[in-house]
Parts: sequence; C-alpha cells; structure tokens
Amino acid sequence: MRAAVYRSYGPPDAVRVEEVPTPTPAGEEVLVRVHAATVSVTDGTARRGSPGYSRLFFGLRRPKWTVLGSEFAGVVEAVGPAVHRVRVGDEVVGVTGPDFGAHAEYVRVRQDGALAAKPANLDFAGAVALADTTALAFLRDRARLGAGQTILVNGASGSVGSMAVQLAKHYGATVTGVCSTAHLDLVRELGADAVLDYTREDFTRSGQTYDVVFDVAGTSSFGRCRRVLGPAGRYLSPVPSPGLLVQMPWTAAFGRRRAVLAFTGLRKAAEKTRDLLFVKELAEAGALRPVIAARYPLDRIVDAHRHVEGGKHGNVILVMPEQG
Ligand SMILES: NC(=O)c1ccc[n+]([C@@H]2O[C@H](COP(=O)([O-])OP(=O)(O)OC[C@H]3O[C@@H](n4cnc5c(N)ncnc54)[C@H](OP(=O)(O)O)[C@@H]3O)[C@@H](O)[C@H]2O)c1
Repeated sequence: MRAAVYRSYGPPDAVRVEEVPTPTPAGEEVLVRVHAATVSVTDGTARRGSPGYSRLFFGLRRPKWTVLGSEFAGVVEAVGPAVHRVRVGDEVVGVTGPDFGAHAEYVRVRQDGALAAKPANLDFAGAVALADTTALAFLRDRARLGAGQTILVNGASGSVGSMAVQLAKHYGATVTGVCSTAHLDLVRELGADAVLDYTREDFTRSGQTYDVVFDVAGTSSFGRCRRVLGPAGRYLSPVPSPGLLVQMPWTAAFGRRRAVLAFTGLRKAAEKTRDLLFVKELAEAGALRPVIAARYPLDRIVDAHRHVEGGKHGNVILVMPEQG
C-alpha cells in the first residue's frame, strides 16, 4: 500500500509517499481502507518535533511512529478471526489516537479501539472532519455546559472551535465566537449568537462576562481571562502552557474560578467510541456539520502539511485517490 512516511523531524517535505507493507488483521484487529483522514495541528507538531518537549512523547531523537494521521473514515476491508463488532464492507469512522498511521491507504485498528459507524448523511471527508471529539470532551465533561449558560470560544473557526460553537448551541448556551475577519460569517453560520474579530478587538477587554471561556487557540490565558469570567467561571484550554499546569491544581484548591487543561487524545478508546456515536446522531439530526478548508490527495501530502503549518480554519482532509 502507499503511505505518507517520515523518518526524521523536519519541514513539510520531510514527508514522502512510499510503498509499505499492507498490514494483515489478526485476532481482534480490523483493516480499514482509508477514504479520508485529517491532517491536524497534532500531525504538524509530530512532524516538526517542536516544541521540543513534544519529543518526550513522539520520540527523543527520531519519530517513533513514521506514518502520521489519527482520524480516519473508510470501509472495513478485512477482519481478524475474533472480530464480531464490524463486518467487511461497513463504513466506519475512527481514531487511531497516539499510534497514528491513518495517512495511508489502509489502517489497522482493534475492534475495541475508537471505531464507530459513519454518519449516514456525510461523505467520508465530512465524517472524518467530525471525528475529533475534543470539543465534546471539554464542553460536556469539563465545563458541564448547559442551557442558559454563556460561553466564549476563542478560535471558533478552527477544527475544535467550529465543533465547540455547534455543540454549545446544542446544549442551549449563548455563544460568542472569536476568529479573524475572514471567518466571521462562517462562525455566525455555525450558530454563534455574537462574533468578535481578534484582529480588531481584545475579548478580554470587552466588558462582558461568561460562564465559560474555551480558549481553543490558546492565545489568551487564565490570568487575562479572569476579568471576563463569571464568579464561578471556567477557563478551559486544550493548549498546554507552564502557567496553566500550575493554575489548574491551584484554582481547583482555592477560589471559585477554575483553569482547566485536558489531553482528550489520551482518553480511553471506549469513551471516544461513545462520543463518535453521539456525534453521528447529532450529524444525522442536522445539529452538527463539518467544516472543511481543503482536500488533498495522498500524493499532495506535503501541500496538506504546508496548509496546516500556515494556519487553517476547519479541517484539512487527505483523500485517497478517487475516494473521500
Ligand atoms: N489537548 C488536546 O487534547 C487537544 C486536542 C485537539 C487539539 N488540541 C490543540 O488545540 C489547538 C487548536 O486545534 P485546532 O485543530 O482547532 O486548530 P485549528 O483548526 O488550526 O484552529 C485554530 C484557530 O485559531 C484561530 N486563531 C489563530 N490566531 C488566533 C488569535 N490570535 N486569537 C484567536 N483565534 C486565533 C484561527 O482562526 P482564524 O482562522 O479565523 O484566524 C483558527 O481557526 C491546537 O493547538 C491543538 O494542538 C489539543
């Protein structure tokens, strides 16, 4: 099979399409023919090996995993003898998690991995664009967002942010989305009640307060957001920083306002599967729609990495030839 391979950290052209052995599924393993996969910010971090601390996870001297790509959508091609949850021909969406491997024509996963049926109303690219359930894990599990609450999403036009805006509306919250001028209309269309342009104004000086600030872009901080958080407000971010690592336990012990960081990719596979099924229901009900910035064929993987490197809105999708 063909796969996008990299063997040393570097710029986008560190990745090359090569022929590699097609995996064979054994036991409880499932072989999926990949139709679409995301090229994410995490793929970019793993490819560059920077920031430096990320190499503690991705490999100190060279990458541990040579084929990137976590979220995939495709068709079950073959199954191991002990597989009973899926059948050959099933259309599925899944997340390989820290093992990567989805930037290839085939990916091998376990049946008890993060794997669910594809939303029936979406194509493979659309399905995979909703496969990162980070926003759900933050808003439902960390913020416990509910009807009548107010939330500001900083980075509302991105992959995580665009889902956060839609999920927050689903939960009945009043949503303010922060993004650049070019994406204000997109964020409004996703359901935001108000939009702020970060190139023109600083939301931390708006004079408004929110029950939750979800700093997806990671461009603000708990300290700066204190003044826009309500008395028991939550500052959530998926972007680690030294400050946040200290503030999280500190604010959990003292005061009512909380700073929260989480690594949703490290959740158990069963939780991710449950969330993929929840997202499928919402997508099929029309409550969630994917945001796709661009689709690239596997041969243009370097361009896809360049796109992500240069900053993206929504999702950059790798589509396999004549598929997706
Ligand atoms: N902890 C976890 O488990 C976890 C999981 C998933 C992702 N993440 C991290 O979460 C972050 C966001 O991921 P993503 O996939 O959503 O990224 P993304 O798709 O690249 O979106 C980032 C968004 O940030 C916006 N932005 C850029 N500069 C900004 C600024 N100064 N102020 C406000 N917004 C700004 C951009 O908006 P415009 O395009 O409108 O400029 C863009 O839409 C990444 O750092 C990623 O590594 C962490």
